Order: sequence, then C-alpha cells, then structure tokens
Amino acid sequence: MALLEIRHVSKHFGGLAAVSDASLEIRTGEFFTLLGPSGCGKTTLLRMIAGFALPDAGQILLDGVDLAATPPERRPLHTVFQSYALFPHMTVAENVGFPLRMAQVAEAELKARVAETLREVELQTLGERFPGELSGGQKQRVAIARALIDRPRLLLLDEPLAALDLKLREQMRLELIKLQKEVGITFVYVTHDQSEALALSHRIAVMNEGRICQIGAPSEVYEFPASRFVADFIGTCNLLDASVIARRGERATLDVAGLGEVDAWAGPACRRGDRGVLAVRPEKVGLEGEAAPRAPDKGFAGVIRELLYLGDVTVYKVETASGVLIEALLPNSAAHGVRPFAIGDRVRFAWSCDAARFIPDA
Ligand SMILES: Nc1ncnc2c1ncn2[C@@H]1O[C@H](COP(=O)(O)OP(=O)(O)OP(=O)(O)O)[C@@H](O)[C@H]1O
Ligand SMILES: [Mg+2]
Repeated sequence: MALLEIRHVSKHFGGLAAVSDASLEIRTGEFFTLLGPSGCGKTTLLRMIAGFALPDAGQILLDGVDLAATPPERRPLHTVFQSYALFPHMTVAENVGFPLRMAQVAEAELKARVAETLREVELQTLGERFPGELSGGQKQRVAIARALIDRPRLLLLDEPLAALDLKLREQMRLELIKLQKEVGITFVYVTHDQSEALALSHRIAVMNEGRICQIGAPSEVYEFPASRFVADFIGTCNLLDASVIARRGERATLDVAGLGEVDAWAGPACRRGDRGVLAVRPEKVGLEGEAAPRAPDKGFAGVIRELLYLGDVTVYKVETASGVLIEALLPNSAAHGVRPFAIGDRVRFAWSCDAARFIPDA
C-alpha cells in the first residue's frame, strides 16, 4: 500500500482552480518531487497534505486512512519552508529539540536525540549558536533537523533551497540525498527548478496550471515526456510540428514541418494521421562539417547561426534552408579546447532514431 495517496483532489480560490483533480501515490522511503512553474499549485497541494488547507473535493489518505478529520498538528508530518522559520531567541540545539520539549520528552533523552540529529545534519559543533549567527545553508539544516527529530512519517519541503546561492544549493542537494537515505523518511519536495528535481528525486510529478501532467522517474520524464509542456519545461528540447505518416510497432515515420520525413519513437498508442510534435534533446543532435566523409547522405544540411560557449559545452543553433532552427549541444572535449564549429559554417545534423520522440497533441 502507498504511504500517501492523493485521490482526485481539487482546490479553488474564487474562480481559480489552483489544484484540479490531482491523483498520485507516494511510497514509503521515496524522495518524491512536485515540479512545475510558479503558480501551478505545488504549495497549495503541499498545504493540503499538511492540513493547512482543506480540499474542495477528493481525499488525502495516509496509510489508507483519510486525513480529512485530522488537524495539522496531529498529522505525523512536518513542513520545511524556504524561509527557515526558526525561533530567533533560541539556540540551534533548543530549536532542534523544540518538538520533543513540546511532547514532554525527558531531558536526558531529549539531549541525546538533539545531539544525534545535529550530527545527521552535520551541525554538531554549532548547537550553542543562535540562528542570527548562522549562514543560510546552516539555518536550513537547523530547520530540517527540527523537522526530523521526532521521526515523522513524511517530511514536506517547500522550495527549501531557493534562498541559497547556486554553489551552496548544489552542495545542499548532495546533503539532502544523503540525509534522506540515512534517515529513511519519505520526502515530498516542492521545486520549480527542473535540475534540482532531476538530481534529487526517485520520482517526479510534473504540474502545470493545477494539473498533474506526468509522473515518473527523472529519466522517464526527461527521456519520454508525455506532452509538449513537459518536454519544454524539463531541460531544453527541439520541438517541431509533425504528423504521423506510417507506423511500425512503437516507431513511426513522421512528416515534420520543414524537414520532411523523419523516423521517431512514437509509443504504443499513436495512429496514422495523429498530429503533434517531434521532440529531440540538443545533446542528442550530432553535427558534422559538410566536408566530413560520413556526412553527405546523412541527416539535414544547415548553417551555424549562433553559438553559446558555456565552458564545458557549446550550444549551436543551426538553421536549414527551409528556416528550421535546431539546437545542438556538444561537449568541448578536445584537449586543446577549440570549438569544432564557428558561426557561418555549413554543417549536417542528425540524431539516432531512438533519440527522437513523437508527442501527440492532447
Ligand atoms: N490563499 C490564496 N488565495 C487566492 N489565491 C491563491 C491562494 N493561494 C494560492 N493562490 C493561487 O493559486 C495558484 C497556485 O498557487 P501556489 O502557491 O500553489 O503555486 P506554486 O506552484 O506553489 O507557485 P510558486 O512556485 O510561485 O511558489 C496561484 O495562481 C496563486 O495565486
Ligand atoms: Mg509555492
């Protein structure tokens, strides 16, 4: 049985559907992420799980039991917010021990558990400091420690790293993965940052305009986006209007605007005549100089119009004679660091059939 089950949950604010008919199941021990753009309903859904808001329709079940009648403070979960929400007049140790003090846990046990939890978040030397004497990353570790100390069934995290700078955020991501593995508590994590979701999660629910568009492992939602929205929101993707000319098993031959016939993976449900998009990730696009011996009969001809040098990789924008723009991402792996192509170069581009996906319109 799922630890947390959300069944057909909706929430309206006036005429606005903040969450529409959301259903999902979260397993014990999972690192589960709600991912979507600003305003798509992530926090609203999290607040309903926490009990701070009630659904207009649908049910939220924990261990198979409907939570509707359980007030927030009696739910076996805690929430960590972007804004830390620490008590400024209490030391780190007092903040972390607060839930146990409320539960009137004996002093000796409280001390031991505070020490253990501070160790888990690597703050053992900072117990006597006050929140005002900590960095942002340290404050967030205190908030997480305080939420973990009474071993909740679920930890809800709403953009906990959003206030931190990039380097610290990357470091905290690694720490969160390690911590979640160590404590084994189920995490429901909210972010609008797709790279964070891909890096942290066992599974991701992608949301848009109050609806859940796709649920899957990071590699599933990245490699097999179920809609144009998911393909575009997660990572970068070349998206070209296309229709199905013929299909063989899960593959199809497409008629792609500006490119003509292209083979792609299309999934079991596609039919001849279906309209949609051809989706190809930039890192799956290969480029060759026009003079390269293998090039002439392979792929499509184009000219490099723009390039963006990013140090480890370079992004090239290639335009065909018919005006199609394709983005290709190539590693700068040559030892001498010279980029293989320059603006104005004539090239051919191609990808393997398995890297191209047809996504039908909804
Ligand atoms: N209390 C409220 N009253 C009215 N509208 C609200 C309320 N809370 C949220 N909304 C609206 O509901 C929609 C979803 O908001 P929500 O906070 O859940 O989005 P979010 O996905 O968490 O966005 P962000 O990434 O910006 O935090 C938004 O359009 C928001 O303006
Ligand atoms: Mg939010």
